[in-house]
Amino acid sequence: MFSGIDLKIISGNANSPLAGKIAGCLNMELCKIEVGRFSDGEIFVKILENIRGTDCFVIQPTNPPADNFMELLLIIDTLRRSSAGRITAVVPYYGYGRQDRKDQPRVGIGAKLAANLITMSGADRVMMLDLHSHQIQGFFDIPSDHLYTLPIFLDFIRSLKLVDPVVVSPDIGGAKMARGYAGRLDCPLAFIEKRRPRPNVSESLNIIGDVDGKDVVVVDDMIDTGGTLIGACNVLCEHGAKDVWVCCTHPVLSGNAVENLQSAPLTGVALTDTILIPEEKIFPKLKVLTVADLLAKAISYIHMGQSVSTLFVD
Ligand code: R5P
Repeated sequence: MFSGIDLKIISGNANSPLAGKIAGCLNMELCKIEVGRFSDGEIFVKILENIRGTDCFVIQPTNPPADNFMELLLIIDTLRRSSAGRITAVVPYYGYGRQDRKDQPRVGIGAKLAANLITMSGADRVMMLDLHSHQIQGFFDIPSDHLYTLPIFLDFIRSLKLVDPVVVSPDIGGAKMARGYAGRLDCPLAFIEKRRPRPNVSESLNIIGDVDGKDVVVVDDMIDTGGTLIGACNVLCEHGAKDVWVCCTHPVLSGNAVENLQSAPLTGVALTDTILIPEEKIFPKLKVLTVADLLAKAISYIHMGQSVSTLFVD
């Protein structure tokens, strides 16, 4: 039990606005820390207050550049060497999560390497959000909490007051997640048959299910290049979808994703702030939902030694 000792929220540079919001939800200030660069680009971390024996939560998504990941490791290492009582890595977006198996000869498993590095740096626990695949939890030999943004998106979808909704997964891999949404919204479910001939290239081929004349809600874990979603929107419109809403957790938004999304046949896109979206990537059809409250509650429950499963109720 850590409820009797001080709680510290520590942020790297990857998403300090989110860390600030989490601290705000907990009525706290962020822990004073310096995360800087030497002239050659190497990262330097110094904790600027006493953290001996405290319960530390480090907020840092590990999206590219790799410096985000290195900052996380160095902060954890610094906390350990400064005698923190317990260190939890809070990784709202788990980079390298898609490299979770050997799906072709002679490839690495980046998701496992990332887990090894976080553990070896000195983390006692890890907290993650909407992992690309659930089995990544098993890559850690320390306790892990896997949280879901589903309640946040359900509130958003319900606020749209859709007349004839159908939940669509843009690929078969997302079927389980989409079923969770359809069940809670009490509406039908459809899938898109997607092929990925090579990394970052996707082809949306066909639809399993009925979307004709319906208010479609596409759910997925992330938008990276946007190829999956734009392909999905096109095929949905060809099959008569009335409107297409998109709900995705992680705004990776690489390359021309934003330009392509703006010209795609969709009504609106909801993303979360697990990854910081730069000002220039904000566009009119985009709604950014915050995960700060969810993460703050999970942090406070873990700190108090309470169950976090109540957060999964919607
Ligand atoms: C794939 O399995 C994932 O769930 C996402 O659909 C995919 O990673 C998104 O990538 P992109 O936006 O580049 O198509």
